[in-house]
Order: sequence, then structure tokens, then C-alpha cells
Amino acid sequence: MAVLSRIKSVEQSIRDTEAPEHRLNRNLSALDLMVFGVGVIIGTGIFVLTGVVAKEQAGPAVAISFVVAGVVCGLAALCYAEFASTVPVAGSAYTFSYATFGEFVAWIIGWDLVLELVLGAATVSVGWSGYFNRLLGDLGIPLPSSIAGETARLNIPAMAIALAVTVVLVLGIKLSSRVTAVIVAIKITVVLLVIVLGLFYINTANYRPFIPPAEPGTSGGSGWTAPLIQLVGGFTPSTFGVSGIFAGAAIVFFAFIGFDIVATAAEETRNPKRDLPRGIIASLAICTLLYVAVSVVVTGMQNYRELSTDAPLAEAFRSVGLTFTSGLISVGAIAGLTSVVLIMILGQSRVLFAMSRDHLLPPALAVVHRRYRTPYRITIITGIAVALLAGLVPLSTLAELVNIGTLFAFVLVSLGVIVLRRTRPDLPRAFKVPGVPVLPLLSAAACIWLMLNLPAETWLRFGVWMVIGLLLYAVYGRHHSRLAKGAEPDAAGEARQQA
Ligand code: ALA
Repeated sequence: MAVLSRIKSVEQSIRDTEAPEHRLNRNLSALDLMVFGVGVIIGTGIFVLTGVVAKEQAGPAVAISFVVAGVVCGLAALCYAEFASTVPVAGSAYTFSYATFGEFVAWIIGWDLVLELVLGAATVSVGWSGYFNRLLGDLGIPLPSSIAGETARLNIPAMAIALAVTVVLVLGIKLSSRVTAVIVAIKITVVLLVIVLGLFYINTANYRPFIPPAEPGTSGGSGWTAPLIQLVGGFTPSTFGVSGIFAGAAIVFFAFIGFDIVATAAEETRNPKRDLPRGIIASLAICTLLYVAVSVVVTGMQNYRELSTDAPLAEAFRSVGLTFTSGLISVGAIAGLTSVVLIMILGQSRVLFAMSRDHLLPPALAVVHRRYRTPYRITIITGIAVALLAGLVPLSTLAELVNIGTLFAFVLVSLGVIVLRRTRPDLPRAFKVPGVPVLPLLSAAACIWLMLNLPAETWLRFGVWMVIGLLLYAVYGRHHSRLAKGAEPDAAGEARQQA
């Protein structure tokens, strides 16, 4: 296939960032990136999924699920850090794939990232609306369920939050990072409060058994909701036990999504080669520690069978009589989820920006606003898409698609590190993954393992989404791509010219 040889060289990717009509503002420091990272990582995962996974899959061993998912993400984070320090260009996994595997795989990844980012932002917006309405309820003015919450016909608060953060994003990256910094401070305070205060209310009896014995059947009922690995391996589907820990890890993986999005801000970072690896790795490490601590505390405060699946943290405090703290947690969750939505829309707009700049999508989308220096068109389109999805589509069953989409991108980025080391050993790498090729191979294998632990129906939906993407590429991108028009030699050719 000719499209497989369309590789965009790292040098060309970097040159593209300098074209005046595509130039973004370089404003962010390592600290800004770390705040961005924590801003997008801590969200629905810890505020909602802890309860769901403890109650339905892992019991108090949800803490181990968090450790497993954290280790998998840690391996992938090292690979992202190497790429980001070598190819500091907006677009993250999409750009990295273009430089290693070529245009076809890059398109697949770009398309796949929509699952992570648009669907992720919409899912979190719906979670935001749930917490928001809960708080209004506490104040005695709840919105009717037809216009707020998961079962709403038109989820107005979910749409409103998506559109509000879109406006902030259009107005500028520095403003976005200031708003994020305030939100992150509130969010971290609340999470620390949960850990510190919660410690005093732990009843160690709740940890027995720490790993509940395996039970036959899946929480969802039918075979399609069982992890793929159980179905293809011919095991009788079961929940809890050791397999419950892994199935739980595949779900709480959602809680870690976001460190990869830090790489999409490459063109807005003052010293990307140095600061991107720092931002990515530090934000992931902080969040892993907080997650494990929160899950240990919450499952110690309330028996896992009694945990709430909507607002487990707030409910655990209510269960021990701390109603005021429970309200505070809701406020923290609302703040926390706001920054997740903001940064996911930011990440999506930067990936689509890079794809339109390469003409795999209409190039007019990649125009940068003259005054605000943000890719406003693509940001507005993304924001509206998220708002419509969040407002109109019941998303609970689609949330696992976000995980499979992200894990797939991690697999390719991990393998890409090995490929780029071979094809372009000459490139300066400010950060290097240790133990290549073993560590990236381990990272890819670990991500595939988590993917296999996702429900079979998620795989089916993922397949359908990818087929739609392939059709779109065949109809549009393949013909319009800048590389198709012979704009530049491939990476090997360019390296030869330099030699
Ligand atoms: N990691 C983000 C969250 O948990 C997506 O909401």
C-alpha cells in the first residue's frame, strides 16, 4: 500500500509549527504542564469509578486495580515522554505515528483519539451534570431529571459546561491554564481532605476479605458484557477474585487518562524537550499516589457492597455522619470534572488541528485566530460536538470505548519508540526510555492485556468506529493529504540528504 510509505519526517513536522498561520503561543512552563496533567487526570475515575469497581468487580482490592493500571500507564508514559521530547509538535500520538508508521496508521490513531477525547469529554460532562444536580438537590433546588443527569432527555447542565469551557479555550491557552490552576488547587485540596479525614473513620473489618472470592456471572448479565479474555479463553465469566482485579484495572484505567494529553500542548510549551517529559511523568506519579490512598480510605470507611456507584466519596462521608464534608466533596468533584472537560476538548482540538494542517481533514479548520492565537474553528466544532453528545446520548455504556481507544494509542506509541530508534537514531532525544526494546514491548503487551480485559461489546463498538474511520480516509484524506501531493521526501530520504 503506497500510503504506508507516506512518512512525515520529524523535521517537516517541526517546520510546520513555524508557519505564521499555524503558529500557537508558546506560554507554558513545566509547572503549567504538571497542573494541566493533574487537571485532566483526576476526575470521574476517582470520584465515580472507585465505587463502581469496588462494588461490582474488585472489592477493597480496587486499590490493587489502581496500582495495576498505574503501572501500565507508567510504562506508556515513559514512551510518551521520549516521543514528546523528540517530536515536540501538537497532535501527540497522531504526530508520533506519522513520523514512525506513516500516514495510514497516523490517520487510524487520529480517528481513534476521537474516542478518547470527544467521547471522554462528553462522558465527564454527563458526570459533571450529575454532581451539579446533586449539589442543587442538597440546596433544595434540584433540576428535573428530564433536563439533568444520566437519564435526562436533554442534559442541559452537561451541554452548558462543554460550551462554557469551549469559550475559555478559544480565548487563549494562558487563560485556560490559569482557570485550570485554580480548579486543580480546589480538586487536590478535596482529595487530600478525603484521605486525611477519612483515615480517622476506617473500620478495618471492611477490608475483610480484601480480595472477595470469585463469583460466577458478570455484573452486566449477558455474555457480551464479560471481558473478551474470559469469552475467548473459554472461562466461565466471573466477577471478583483475581480476574476481578484485572477487569477492574481495565475500567479504572479511565482515571489515568490525560497524562498523554499533556503531549498535545507541545507547541504551546516554552521548552518542550525538557518540560514535556517532566510534566507527563510528574503528573502521573502524583495522581497514582492519590488514587491508591483514596481507594484504600474509602473502602475502609464503607463496606464495598454498600458503596455508592454515583458519588462514592461523598456518600462514604455521609455514611459516617459527615454531611458537610460530603457537600464539600461534591463541590470539589464539580471543580475537578470541569478541568477534565476543558483539557480533553483542548487535546482534541490540537489533534484535529494537526490533522487538518496535514490536509487529512479540510485545511481551513487549522486556521489560528489572529488575536487569541488559538485554533478557534476546530475548538468550536469540537466543543459543539461534545455538547451535543453529552446532551443527547446516554453515555454510560460508551465510556469503556474511551479506554479501548486510549489503550490502542498507547500500544502504537510504545511500539513507535522502538521503530523511531531504528529509523532515526540520529535524532536528538532529550529524554530516553531506559531498556529499549524491552520496556516499550512490555508497555505494549500490558496495554493489550488491559484491552483484552474490557467487555466483548466494547471491542465490537471499537471495530465499527474504526471501519467508519477507514472509509473516511479512503474517501477524503488519502487524496487530499499534503504528503500525497509529494510535498516532501520521507524521513529516510531526508536523513540521506542530511548525511
Ligand atoms: N482521567 C479522567 C477522569 O478520570 C479522564 O475523569
